[in-house]
Amino acid sequence: MVLFVGSLAKAGHVNIAVSKLNVFRLKYPNKPFSVSLYNLLIRLALEQNYMDCVRVLYEDMIVCRVSPETYTFNLLIGGLCDSGCLDDARKVFDKMPERGCVPNEFTFGILVRGYCRDGRGEEGLELLEVMRGMGVVPNIVIYNTLVSAFCKEGKTDEAEKLVERIREDGLVPNVVTFNSRISGLCRAGKVLEASRIFRDMQVDKELGLPQPNTITYNLMLEGFCKEGMMEEVETVIETMKESGVSLEVQSYNIWLSGLVRNGKVLEAQDVLNEMAEKGVSPTIVSYNIMMDGLCKNGMLRDAKTVMSIMKKDGVAPDVVSYSILLHGYCKKGKINEANELLRNMIANGCFPNNYTCNSLLESLWKEGKVLEAEELLNKMKERGYALDTVTYNIVLDGLCKSGKVDKAVETLHEMWNQEDDDNNKNNRMPDLITYSTIINALCKDGKLEEAKKKFIEMVGRNVYPDSVIYDIFVSNLCKKGKVSSAFRVLKDMEKKGYNKSLQTYNSLILGLGMKSQFFEMYGLVDEMRERGTSPNVCTYNNMIRCLCESGQTDDASKLLDEMLTKGVSPNISTFKLLIRSLCLIGEFKPAHDVFDISLSICGHTETLYSFMFNELVAGDELMEAKDVFMSALDRCFEIGNFKYADFIGRLCKAEMLECASDVLRKMIKSRYSFDPASFMPVIDGLRMMGNKREADEFAEWMLEMGSEVKFSNQVNRNATVFNRRKVSNNNENNWQHILHRDDGSRATLKIVNKIQKGWGHARISNPQSPQYDFVDS
Ligand SMILES: *[C@@H]1O[C@H](CO)[C@@H](O)[C@H](O)[C@H]1NC(C)=O
Ligand SMILES: *[C@@H]1O[C@H](CO)[C@@H](O)[C@H](O)[C@H]1NC(C)=O
Ligand SMILES: *[C@@H]1O[C@H](CO)[C@@H](O)[C@H](O)[C@H]1NC(C)=O
Ligand SMILES: *[C@@H]1O[C@H](CO)[C@@H](O)[C@H](O)[C@H]1NC(C)=O
Repeated sequence: MVLFVGSLAKAGHVNIAVSKLNVFRLKYPNKPFSVSLYNLLIRLALEQNYMDCVRVLYEDMIVCRVSPETYTFNLLIGGLCDSGCLDDARKVFDKMPERGCVPNEFTFGILVRGYCRDGRGEEGLELLEVMRGMGVVPNIVIYNTLVSAFCKEGKTDEAEKLVERIREDGLVPNVVTFNSRISGLCRAGKVLEASRIFRDMQVDKELGLPQPNTITYNLMLEGFCKEGMMEEVETVIETMKESGVSLEVQSYNIWLSGLVRNGKVLEAQDVLNEMAEKGVSPTIVSYNIMMDGLCKNGMLRDAKTVMSIMKKDGVAPDVVSYSILLHGYCKKGKINEANELLRNMIANGCFPNNYTCNSLLESLWKEGKVLEAEELLNKMKERGYALDTVTYNIVLDGLCKSGKVDKAVETLHEMWNQEDDDNNKNNRMPDLITYSTIINALCKDGKLEEAKKKFIEMVGRNVYPDSVIYDIFVSNLCKKGKVSSAFRVLKDMEKKGYNKSLQTYNSLILGLGMKSQFFEMYGLVDEMRERGTSPNVCTYNNMIRCLCESGQTDDASKLLDEMLTKGVSPNISTFKLLIRSLCLIGEFKPAHDVFDISLSICGHTETLYSFMFNELVAGDELMEAKDVFMSALDRCFEIGNFKYADFIGRLCKAEMLECASDVLRKMIKSRYSFDPASFMPVIDGLRMMGNKREADEFAEWMLEMGSEVKFSNQVNRNATVFNRRKVSNNNENNWQHILHRDDGSRATLKIVNKIQKGWGHARISNPQSPQYDFVDS
């Protein structure tokens, strides 16, 4: 019987063996088995995870008065630790003396490992004291377990102290100890400290330190790669080669991955070549690392080449390889290529996973290919892909961005009301991102009440809001002028323990400013400073905007000074706000000062020049405007944003004809092609003054300009306009005759008609006109 039970258990039928034991007990209530048979059965039951059997066996032992051995307890404690019942394991351990058993170093080892695996290194360390109390000397394995645990928990200092204790106990830290320390230090970002230990291992042979092994080298490689210290990585590689450690594919992969992550894709390619030379076959991981790096650097073509190479080398791309490339295509908006690859992938028996599909889906939404996205989504559902929260969130985001907020809300409802018997239900529960997306969209649509309902719903469903969601409310309420509601939300937010973020402050400042509650606004700025949040350009722009809008331009200007003294860099918006506001109240000199500051901070940009110019024109500051415009022309800016036609009109109206003609001449001379209508008021003006000659000259220019298919407001680098000046000296030109013959105003009228009909279609010039002979000469 005993033999039978034993062999049943050995054949993997512990449960049957134990049931036979029960039958046996009915016949022979107190006939014990040997302790070694119990041990065997318990061991096998544990190996096969029959925890019930373990309990039955242990109880049977006690009933039959068979004393368990220390080994029996070690088995039990190990089993309990492995199945996550650490506290039960400890109880069993504490009972050992009662049963006349003394824990040995293995018992301690097992329990310490249990604590360490559970992230309870401190409690493991306490066991060392218990151990000493019982006269058991800790061995190096126990110490290494603890050192490694402390390192993993980021307690590198404790780990170092423990290493000291190893030495005090007369033990010698071995390579495992050192690897644990190096691994822990690297993980904690202390790669320099790790490298010091690493160097000691290499040089201090007299101290009897262990030599680095492959694991040590790989740990250092990873550490240096993580910190982007690629030169050190190469030194490690050199050392490995010099000390005759063969570089295995694993080390190469770490190196590759480091290079790629640090943007050194070309070097990575060299490493891949070196592997081939050294006869180390790249694995699929190597190729995937390479492709990922290439894709992230936008080198899709090269990534595709890598895929061909791997196929040629007999390594079949896996779902990861395809996903990488697919993601690359998607990110570049190459939807057709992505689809092609997807087909290719499926044809090669490689089925897209959730990540692949999600990535494609997201790109389709982003590209605005809503129909394709919906089609893909349906296909995913059909093929039985379990849609997860990530997928849903992508879909919701897509819906909201394409204005289908109602559909998004419906989908959210769907997410909550899934079949209850579905195993994967938890994978697709709405989360914070889901709610932020929807609440944000509802707020933007002005549906604050609905947004609030969703907020209440999420809290009711135990999805707890974070500061982002609160910020959405605060920001939208402020924008809508509902500042007091915003402050109520804020109160709730602070009650929940969230501090105001910079974004929160900025929203509130805008809200208060828009209501002209400047005293409160400044108070908030003081508060944010006190709490260690520095106002940024957005804060200042919000304040400046509100102050300007309520006519407090002086205070707004002071804020610009404050920005400059506090080192907050204003941007173009800041300057535009101030310049406009100053010009509106006729403070052109201060406006010009601000303009000068803006040029020194943002550089001489077309945007600033055109803005300043237009404001000056609108304020009838024509001489100032002329200066700005002339410098703009000198800088060859595009002049499409300059209201030069309006400017010239105003000059003429103000009887500053000379100035107007100066401007026109300069534009012509600088080889601009521009709106021919700008000539009209000047021509009219000159004619009225009786200056027919100059009027004719301009009229001719106007026709030249008008015969361009489309004026471009650009400097015409081909210099056709400039060269056409010669045409004007050619008296054969028909138009000249017309202009001479008529009294001028009729000619002007005709030209106006031409302009209104649209330039370019009706060719104005004489077919025999030699004008194109000069083009590109
Ligand atoms: C990914 O899809 C598979 C089915 O293809 C599913 O079993 C799995 O749970 C999904 N993963 C997640 C995280 O939802
Ligand atoms: C909020 O700010 C206080 C100090 O003003 C700080 O003590 C606290 O840790 C912060 N809370 C959070 C969640 O950041
Ligand atoms: C200036 O900064 C504000 C706030 O950061 C930003 O909203 C705005 O777009 C910026 N303007 C420009 C022209 O960059
Ligand atoms: C110069 O002339 C060529 C050919 O006529 C034309 O394609 C090009 O756009 C012109 N460049 C500019 C700056 O007008």
